[in-house]
Amino acid sequence: MKKIRIAVFASGTGTNFQTISNNIDKGEITAEIGVVISNNKDSGALKFASEKGFRTEHISKKQFSGFDEMSGRILEILEKESIDLIVLAGYMKLLHSKIVKHFENRIMNIHPALLPSFGGKGFYGERVHKAVLETGAKVTGVTVHFVNEVYDQGPIILQECVPVMDDDDHHSLASRVLKVEHSLFSKAIHLFQRGFLSVDGRKVSIKKVD
Ligand code: GRF
Repeated sequence: MKKIRIAVFASGTGTNFQTISNNIDKGEITAEIGVVISNNKDSGALKFASEKGFRTEHISKKQFSGFDEMSGRILEILEKESIDLIVLAGYMKLLHSKIVKHFENRIMNIHPALLPSFGGKGFYGERVHKAVLETGAKVTGVTVHFVNEVYDQGPIILQECVPVMDDDDHHSLASRVLKVEHSLFSKAIHLFQRGFLSVDGRKVSIKKVD
């Protein structure tokens, strides 16, 4: 079975990334991490990646003359590492459209709510969970989707519901959602690696599930 090469982009703690890496180690995903890229040199994600001996790249706009040049450098790294799939695991920056085009239907993002609700510009981190609580919704969830050029609107791969409890605050809700993120992201990557995902417009069909 073909081992896919993954590039992970992460800005923060990186618990999603760590879970994916652990699941690769356990043999649950047939893949290898080619590079871990972060805009944040102090991120937990980069720290974990260096401890594991992965290639790490701290790439931030300040190091370049502009977004185009920075994105050119990112693309160069991805090509050099023969990356099959980009995984956005809590990456807080936009990807340039030339990267999105180059990796069409090969970039996955995880969103801590059920898209298309509570998504789009401004909906990130705790803001998502606060917005869910403000509406009084009884259910939220997790979405894994392919990335296209419109923020949070790419084809949806998998979704799972998470209940909202009466006594939740955004911390308790975020931690219940995060647990589901960890399992759902690996499932989606596994499906991709097996070649089970096919995309038609905004729809993703899952050909077969183990
Ligand atoms: C997750 O909630 C993810 O949905 C969002 O950013 C958070 C990243 O968490 N995009 P972690 O860094 O993987 O722990």
